[in-house]
This record gives sequence, structure tokens and C-alpha cells, in this order.
Amino acid sequence: MPGQRVTVIGCGYLGATHAACMAELGYEVLGVEIDAAKRETLAKGLVPFYEPALEELLAKHVATGRLRFTDSYEEAGAFGSIHFVCVGTPQRHDALGADVQYVDAAVESLAPYLVESALVVGKSTVPVGTAERLAARLESLAPAGAEARLAWNPEFLREGFAVQDTLEPDRLVFGVTSARDEQELRAFYAAVIAAGTPVVVTDFATAELVKVAANAFLATKISFINAVAEVCEAAGADVVDLADAIGHDVRIGRKFLNAGVGFGGGCLPKDIRAFLHRAGELGVEDTMSFLRQVDDINLRQRTRVVQIATSMLGGSVARARIAVWGAAFKPHSDDVRDSPALSIAGQLHLRGALVSVYDPKANDTARATFPTLDYAESALAAAHDADLLLHLTEWPEFRTVDPVELAGVVHRQQVIDGRNVLDLPAWRAAGWTARGLGRR
Ligand code: UDX
Repeated sequence: MPGQRVTVIGCGYLGATHAACMAELGYEVLGVEIDAAKRETLAKGLVPFYEPALEELLAKHVATGRLRFTDSYEEAGAFGSIHFVCVGTPQRHDALGADVQYVDAAVESLAPYLVESALVVGKSTVPVGTAERLAARLESLAPAGAEARLAWNPEFLREGFAVQDTLEPDRLVFGVTSARDEQELRAFYAAVIAAGTPVVVTDFATAELVKVAANAFLATKISFINAVAEVCEAAGADVVDLADAIGHDVRIGRKFLNAGVGFGGGCLPKDIRAFLHRAGELGVEDTMSFLRQVDDINLRQRTRVVQIATSMLGGSVARARIAVWGAAFKPHSDDVRDSPALSIAGQLHLRGALVSVYDPKANDTARATFPTLDYAESALAAAHDADLLLHLTEWPEFRTVDPVELAGVVHRQQVIDGRNVLDLPAWRAAGWTARGLGRR
């Protein structure tokens, strides 16, 4: 209940959002972050990445004193009785599986300071079986013994909508081992539940699998429409009309049926690989092997764009000037992890093209990842003298650029719409050779 004290361990994307949102719900929140630079930024009420609405919320609650940050697990253990684990589980360097070392470290560092009854709530995306292992570890390391309990409550937030998805989630999932822990979580999320959010109460393994299954389904939907887009292209059909038509069927739905350069980011690609890897460990790899194709179809979209660009430029991209609009893996984010846009820009650069990139928010993060590309300060500046324009992240501002005005800026009027949102007939009417993916 409001006023209660909770900790949030790991204040990256998920944790910083969860901490600020829980303060908004009225809790006293202590964030544990071991990275000093990140912690100091957060303590000033600033967000170390771009996420609409988060900075305002964070600044508000740092100012009220309801949200503080520390690097001390001892302080965290003494602070409250509910502890959320929000650390990252990146793809392992040596395999497709998820690296759970930070989750293990969080639980092992906190446990020795749990002297009284406490509920540790995992929110990170983990391979199925992790929670059961951690629950035993927690009980053995905590002075409170069996009174140090674990629950799993996966997070489904989307970048760009992180605050909204945390405060008004589609559902809450509680993986618990007792009615007492369920009641504690229900009481904690009482305001969210009262607003009509459905709750699914289940065991650890199901709660862990819900998260990866949801992301695998979304990834499959995107790769399905991208595969169909290639058929459309071969048959002279239009994948956007097709998606609109099948999307009217409520069993299918129109969301996540946008064909284009595919999915990227810190979740979907790594989660389908980790799911596949874990299925292999469990001896059921064959049944999940379609996820390999989902991954392949997705990566193929990047190669396709490079191939189309090469053919539009007469067989080679070497020395051609190519403007790339977008670097983030999706709009309203500055995240370039596994970004299709940056991958395509990089591939063209490595084939000898002169690539100029512009992203409204991700120029800096892209530069840090791929410093050898040229970064422009505006959409028009990137397009200056270009032989080919690639639209790869669908920021709204790109849709408002007038193709007639842009014609006077570029060297050759050629465009590939990698997100299928530009008005191709209008661009063609302005004299452009304009291509989408799977479009007429
Ligand atoms: C995703 C899940 O949506 C979220 O529930 C989970 O917690 C984390 O992973 P996020 O990575 O923020 O969230 O992005 P999302 O909005 O799901 O988009 C993922 C990728 O798919 C983006 O690269 C996006 O451009 C792409 N996409 C999405 C498509 O290519 N086509 C679509 O129709 C929809």
C-alpha cells in the first residue's frame, strides 16, 4: 500500500521505469544501481536514455524525495520488505542463450541482508527454471531462511511507451508458490488491479515462459508478414492492403503486421534465440525450430534492402551517396541495439557507399556504436546530394517531408521505404522512383 517501502534492483531501462512508476503509485522507492555514472544521473532526476514521459516522472519523485538511489545492498535489505529484481539478461557472447549472471548476482548480493520476512520479485526475462533455482539460493543465503521468498512477475513494457505500459499494463502475471505471496502482490498492485488490469496467477515456470512466448509470438507475426511481403512482390500484390484485409479478422488483428526491415531492439531478437536455446536444453528443440526461421526471415529483410539498393544504383553501391533516415530500432526510442536501420547503414558503408544517417533522437547512440558513418543534423541535410534515400525507422517527421521540396535537395530521386508508411503515389507523382517492401 502507498507509503510502503520497496527497492528496485538494477536501474536500467526496466528498473528506472519501474522505480519511477512505483513512486508515482505512492511508494517510497530505493533504486539499487552499481554503475556510478548511471546512478548519479538518475539521482539528479535525469534519464540516461530517451523515453517519453519517464524523465518528468523521475524528476518529480526525486524532487519529492520518494525516489532515491544507492549502490548498497545492505541499505536495500534494511529498507523494505519487497524487492524487485530488474537487471538485464543479455544474449551470451558464446551462445544463443540468455546470460543470467546479473540476476544471480542481484539475488546473491541482497540475500545476506534479508534478516526478516521479505518478498523478492523477479521482473527480468529469464530462461525457464531460473526462478526455482533462485528461490532455493535465496532461502539458503538469507538469515531469514524460508521467510525470504521469491515470486516472478515478468514485465512486458515496450520502449517508447514504458511508463504507460507499467502504470496501465495489459495484464499482470504472478508466478508464486503460496497464497500468501499472491496476496502480497495483489495488495502491492491494488491500484493497478482496481483500474481493471487482469491478473494471471500461476507457477514460476509458466510465468517465466509467458514472457518469452509473448515475444516469440510477436516476432513470428512480423516475420510472417515479411515472408508474405516477398510473395506479394513476386506476384505483383500489395502487402499493406493484404495486412489491412487480414487484420480485420479479429482472430488475426492488424497490430504487428507491418512488413518492412523487421524487428530489432534489446528484447525480441535475443528472446527468440534464448527461447530456442532453452528449448534445446529441455530436449524439445525440434518443436521450436521454426523460431530459427523467424530469426532468418527477419535478418533477411536487411539483406534484401541492401540488394534492392544495389540494383537501384546500377549494380554497385561503391562511392554512391546514400541517405539513411532513422537509426533507432523503432521510433520514439534512441536504442540502436540490433537495429535494422543501423545494420543496413553499416552494410552499405562497408560496401563502399558514402552513408549519411539522420535520426531525431538516436544520432549519438548510433555514433557510439558505429562511429565511421556520417551523421547529419536533419533529414534534409542527410539527403543532400544523395543518389538514394532509405527510410528505415518510421519517425513521424519523415512522413511530413514534402517529396517535391526534397527533389531539389538530392542528386537522384530514388527512395526505398523500408517501413511501408510513405505515400508512394505522392512521391512518384513528384518524380521519384519509389519502392516499398512487398508493395506495388
Ligand atoms: C518488445 C515487446 O513488445 C514488449 O512487450 C517486451 O517487453 C519487450 O520487447 P520493444 O522491443 O520495445 O518491446 O518493441 P516493439 O514495439 O515490440 O517492437 C519490436 C520491433 O518490431 C521493432 O524493431 C519494430 O520496428 C518491429 N515491428 C513492430 C515491425 O517490424 N513490424 C510491426 O508490425 C511491429
